[in-house]
Amino acid sequence: MDRPEPENPDVLPSTALAYLDRNYWDKRFAQEEHYEWFKDYSHFRHIVLQHIKPQSSVLELGCGNSQLCEELYRDGITELTCIDLSPIAVEKMKQRLINKGYKEIKVLEADMLDLPFEDGCFDVVIEKGTMDVLFVDSGDPWNPHPATVEKVMKMLHEIHRVLKPEGIFISITFGQPHFRRRFFSDPEFTWSIEWNTFGETFHYFFYVLKKGQRSLESEEYREKTHIPSISLYHDELEGEDFLFRTNIDEMES
Ligand SMILES: C[S@@+](CC[C@H](N)C(=O)[O-])C[C@H]1O[C@@H](n2cnc3c(N)ncnc32)[C@H](O)[C@@H]1O
Repeated sequence: MDRPEPENPDVLPSTALAYLDRNYWDKRFAQEEHYEWFKDYSHFRHIVLQHIKPQSSVLELGCGNSQLCEELYRDGITELTCIDLSPIAVEKMKQRLINKGYKEIKVLEADMLDLPFEDGCFDVVIEKGTMDVLFVDSGDPWNPHPATVEKVMKMLHEIHRVLKPEGIFISITFGQPHFRRRFFSDPEFTWSIEWNTFGETFHYFFYVLKKGQRSLESEEYREKTHIPSISLYHDELEGEDFLFRTNIDEMES
């Protein structure tokens, strides 16, 4: 099922830069019960289940009011922790999960740039559309502002730190490989990089980064792989994804 337009159009910001503002998210979550960025779980469940086992401990970054954690829970993945920067998102998510009886899922207010967890404590870290927020004021996507680079690297450093030695980072995004690889493949990280796509007209990317599996061979292979350039027209993107991408589109054209 495709994601609907926001029920209340008042939650749409006038500019994508609002996505960097915590007050924007608080205000939005106070008014909105559910919104699924990009696609819902049914579109990528088949890929998730190849990588997340029922016994995996999973951290979801920037859960918002998405149903991702509930869907994982229904698939038997019960050791789940969700974080979000917005206290309103966190309170509402806690209440929703209690009401549904999913009491084991932990939800807490936290910043993904400074995770309140010990080193090596999760099998999987997953995010959908959350890292993309850091790119909304990146400037030229081929040469992002130093402030963007710093934030993205901080986020990745934290993810790498909290993953177990053979843990996996899953990133679900519209960020194309030629814009994400420069971050993912930083020598600081020991993970290998793979991706799949899903979606119909517009393809979203499902990155799988496996800690401790870095292989120069696979990197060279990736360098040589032709990545088709995806030309985006506004009506190809569904609903709010368009707004989210506005800055990047401007720079790509
Ligand atoms: C584009 S929404 C994605 C929400 C959800 N993952 C989904 O797929 O529908 C981005 C989410 O990230 C949260 N967020 C933004 N910056 C954050 C940060 N530094 N740490 C944790 N969460 C953050 C926002 O509050 C919002 O819930």
